[in-house]
Amino acid sequence: MFRIADPISIRSRSLVIVIMRFGSAVFPQLWRRAECSRLFSTRISAIEVPYTQSTVGAEEIDAVSQVIASDRLIMGPKVTEFESMLARFCGRKFAVAVSSGTSALQAVLHLRGVSSEWTVFVPAYTWVATYNVAVATGARVILVDVRPDSYCMSMRALERAIEDERKLFPNRRLCVMPVHMFGYRCGAEVDEITLDALSKQHNVTVIGDACCAFASVENGVTCGNWTPIECTSFHPRKLLTTGEGGAVFTDSEEEMLRLKRLRDHGAFRDAEQRKQTTQGGTLVPQFPEAGFNYRMTEMQGAIGVEQMKKIDWITSRRKSIARRYDEEIQASKELSSLLQVPLARTGLLDDRVLTAYPVKMNFASPASVVESFLSQDIQSTERYARMKRLRHEIIHHCAQVRVALRPPMICLPDIAFIVRDQVRLGILASEDQVDLRFPGARVCLDMTFALPSFPQLSADQQSRVLEVLHEFAAAHVTE
Ligand SMILES: Cc1ncc(COP(=O)(O)O)c(C=O)c1O
Repeated sequence: MFRIADPISIRSRSLVIVIMRFGSAVFPQLWRRAECSRLFSTRISAIEVPYTQSTVGAEEIDAVSQVIASDRLIMGPKVTEFESMLARFCGRKFAVAVSSGTSALQAVLHLRGVSSEWTVFVPAYTWVATYNVAVATGARVILVDVRPDSYCMSMRALERAIEDERKLFPNRRLCVMPVHMFGYRCGAEVDEITLDALSKQHNVTVIGDACCAFASVENGVTCGNWTPIECTSFHPRKLLTTGEGGAVFTDSEEEMLRLKRLRDHGAFRDAEQRKQTTQGGTLVPQFPEAGFNYRMTEMQGAIGVEQMKKIDWITSRRKSIARRYDEEIQASKELSSLLQVPLARTGLLDDRVLTAYPVKMNFASPASVVESFLSQDIQSTERYARMKRLRHEIIHHCAQVRVALRPPMICLPDIAFIVRDQVRLGILASEDQVDLRFPGARVCLDMTFALPSFPQLSADQQSRVLEVLHEFAAAHVTE
């Protein structure tokens, strides 16, 4: 289907590299690397590599068709089956399926009673939904900086934020929404203080946002079970999808029952009412409290069940794709001087299921990346500026040769209304202070992009991604 538009043979390209290297040493101004990369970018391969691809296939289509034929379109046996599979998989007593990750978070904030009397801490690097749902409760929402190595909220920054807030408002209720970014567990052993210890010490309610971490495992514990109550998303970009969809994980039967009411307008049906409902009876439910419509459809439930049957394949493919990227980037001098592979914690790498494969520009040594976000200096270095520019160029270059890379998340301090909120709440003295306050989130945004990583990614496609990165690195590494 695709044509090679400008076929420069391997041999002639090698010759160009030799001439270019020689030329750049002798006439640096004449032999600009940028010119060379422009030359390579005209070579289009037959292989196109999308950023992601859904794993929904024939099995899901069949299952949805059967649901449609059955006439039970919402909240039926498929949703129940999906919930049991989810709970079993995560080692939790209960999973409550809802219409999206956002509605899962909203239901849990409501369940915990978070309101304008509360302060909620959210990471500065996450999807905007984490912030939006917290703000919608009327709470004071405070951004907390993240670690550039794990992309998760820094426990040290959280501790400082809690202490500052306690000084201002000794009696406010506090809640933290740790986001387990890309499959990394927030507040685990990378920080000296764990989230668990910190939240207990300061009496902080924890609502886990695992919307982009479902199925990852750390220290033998599966995501869904990393915080006392945890929410996930089944958006098509996630590891497992139901189109739209989400779930809440809990071990409390009381919470499970209340969440089931909240997702269904607050309706409660006793055994007789449930029997009547299935037999076309007339008893109306009771409404002990106000609720929402966060119901999952039976079609979504059916897709979820089929997706769960593929979960081992999905996770093992993602792991082996990540392992190959890790190995090949680290083995190449040129690639590793340009890029850093995602954080691996000793002995735990094999369990981690990355829901995106984020690489970081090599703007500082891996050891100093961890600490660098505490200091502003790193961001004013020449190397930082160069790596920031190269990141932009790599994404652009790859797009030209039809290899899709993506910035995997967003930096909330780049969003104008959020910055205005932080100034209004007195958390920032002025809008100019943003970068001083959130250097970790800035590093994540400036330096990170994600490589294509999805179960169907073929070996040839992955080779193509690595080849394009190699070409780029070869042309830029000594620049
Ligand atoms: C960290 C995070 N929180 C919340 C959400 C919201 O999930 P959904 O799109 O299913 O509402 C997402 C989705 O991308 C997310 O990545």
